[in-house]
Amino acid sequence: MKVGILGSGGVAKTLAAGFVKHGHDVMLGTRTPAKLADWSKQHPGARVGSFAEAAAFGETIVLAVKGGVASEALRAAGAPNLAGKTVMDATNPIADAPPVNGVLKFFTSLDDSLMERLQREFAAARFVKVFNSVGQALMINPQLKGGKPTMFICGNDEAAKKMVTAVLDQFGWETADMGRAEAARAIEPLCMLWCIPGLTRNQWSHAFKLIQA
Ligand SMILES: NC(=O)c1ccc[n+]([C@@H]2O[C@H](COP(=O)([O-])OP(=O)(O)OC[C@H]3O[C@@H](n4cnc5c(N)ncnc54)[C@H](OP(=O)(O)O)[C@@H]3O)[C@@H](O)[C@H]2O)c1
Repeated sequence: MKVGILGSGGVAKTLAAGFVKHGHDVMLGTRTPAKLADWSKQHPGARVGSFAEAAAFGETIVLAVKGGVASEALRAAGAPNLAGKTVMDATNPIADAPPVNGVLKFFTSLDDSLMERLQREFAAARFVKVFNSVGQALMINPQLKGGKPTMFICGNDEAAKKMVTAVLDQFGWETADMGRAEAARAIEPLCMLWCIPGLTRNQWSHAFKLIQA
C-alpha cells in the first residue's frame, strides 16, 4: 500500500517506520521537508515531501498533525488529493490551555468531535479515527503483559474501516469498531484518560483492552 502521512512529529515518524516495517511505501508530508533530512537518512524506505505531495502519493492517508491545525494541514494537502481515500485520523483536539490535575483540555465538547468536523469539511474523504488513544511508543506491535491491546476505531465508511482493521492486525492490535463518525466524541477523550497516569505519575506504558464476556 502507498501511504501518505501528513505530519513530521513523533506520531508521524513512528507510524511511518511501522508501515515501512510491514512492507508499505511511505511518504511523510510537512511544511518544511528539510527538517526531516536526518530522519530520512536513517529511514531510507520513507520519502519526504510537502503535505500536497504526500497526499497525492498516498492511496491511503494518515493524519498526524496537531489537532488545532488539522483542518489547515488538510487544506494544504488539497481536497482533491484526499477524495475517495481512507484518512486514518490519529489527531486529538487538545486545547492550548494546560491540563488540570493531569486532565487535558479539549477544544471540542462532548456533542462534537474533531473527526466529525474534518469529515464535514472534507466530505469526499473517508475518515477513520485510529491511533489516538495510545502513546506513540506503543503504536507498533506493542508487547504488553495483558496481551494484545484494543484500538477503538470509528467512521462512516465500512470498507475504510475494514482496511484500517487489516493495518491494525499487522501492527499487533485488536480492533473494536464503535460505529459511525459520532463515536469519535467518545474515542477522542480516551486520549485524556490515557494521559492521566503519564501527566500525574509519569507512567506512560499502558494501553486499553476491551474484555468480552
Ligand atoms: N504524541 C503521542 O504520543 C500521540 C499519541 C496519539 C495521538 N497523538 C495525536 O497525534 C497528532 C500528532 O502528534 P505529534 O505529537 O506527533 O505531533 P504534534 O507536535 O502534535 O504536531 C506536529 C505536526 O503538526 C504540524 N503543524 C503544526 N502547526 C501547523 C500549521 N499551522 N499548519 C499545518 N501543520 C502544522 C507540524 O507540521 P510541520 O511538519 O509542517 O511542522 C507537524 O507535522 C496530534 O493531534 C496528537 O494529539 C499524539
